Amino acid sequence: MDEQQKPGQPAPPAKPARRVFSGIQPTGAPHLGNYLGALRWWVDFQDRYDAFYCVVDLHALTVPGDPEELSKSTLTMATLLLACGLDPARCTLFVQSHVHYHADLTWLLECTASMGELSRMTQFKDKAQKGGEESARVGLFAYPVLMAADILLYDTDLVPVGDDQRQHLELTRDLAQRWNSRYGPTFVVPEAAIPPVGGGARVMDLQEPRRKMSKSADSDAGVVYLFDDPKVIERKVKRAVTDLDPPGPGSVRWDPEEKPGVSNLLELLATIRGGKPEDIARAYDGYARLKSDAADAVVSLVRPLQERYRELSQDPGAVQAVLAAGARKAEEVAAATYDRARTAMGLLTA
Ligand code: TRP
Repeated sequence: MDEQQKPGQPAPPAKPARRVFSGIQPTGAPHLGNYLGALRWWVDFQDRYDAFYCVVDLHALTVPGDPEELSKSTLTMATLLLACGLDPARCTLFVQSHVHYHADLTWLLECTASMGELSRMTQFKDKAQKGGEESARVGLFAYPVLMAADILLYDTDLVPVGDDQRQHLELTRDLAQRWNSRYGPTFVVPEAAIPPVGGGARVMDLQEPRRKMSKSADSDAGVVYLFDDPKVIERKVKRAVTDLDPPGPGSVRWDPEEKPGVSNLLELLATIRGGKPEDIARAYDGYARLKSDAADAVVSLVRPLQERYRELSQDPGAVQAVLAAGARKAEEVAAATYDRARTAMGLLTA
């Protein structure tokens, strides 16, 4: 059918905005890779989608940690998200454990997921191997099912996730499809939202530019934390590994294979300032100015976030109030989905 509008006809009702859901763990210090690869997009998505964002404290329980630290870091992460530009008037921001349906739906989904499919999750295999298979927590094994519950509770259309979470999103889709065909249509089957090319999804470690910037790096020297002092940031960027060929004309070029260090700095500049790394390269004939410009760009990006964070952290009660209101909004949606799910599965209504 041709749905073209004819002059004089009233505009068709606006389509409801598609729903986005994403989560971030409160553990570990957030770094530039998290910001450029994810958080920046969360901020952007607020105006394009009906966005739900969650600090996933239950996921943090899957590995050993200090209870006092957990509640502190949950509040810190929420404060940081607000400092980055999440706006409670334009998105729903909440803490996972404040909405009990996440744990409730996890159980129902666990009773549809198989040991085999969870055993194939590479993140579980990696993490369990590191800490010893025998002592790996059952929660670590079930981690992706909790993540599926997070997503499915909100009738999510799109999930912004990095490469490392792709497999978990695939599992979520499998679980939703299996459920819908076994128990009748209950869940929206979500898709990955992929930031556009050059979207800063791959910020590399400044010391090991062939690996992604990550909090699990052996050393902090190549990782710029959002809470690093500007002086520390400057030092880290200026000490970034460049490449072995001598500096000089032509040494600054966009070539991630041959020149990963230089290319990473160009990519950083391009992501922060806009533009293409290839074009930015042309303005440089040596490494020193490239590094100092990249350092300036990172500092000018991070400084306002830090200032805003300092302001917001003066009033933790206000942040808690944002989270409480977010949880109430989230709970309304989650309750309806959970109810559909429990009924579909045959659980008796109380
Ligand atoms: N597992 C994700 C990570 O470590 C965090 C997460 C939990 C998540 N639940 C989610 C991400 C739901 C997207 C959607 O990065």
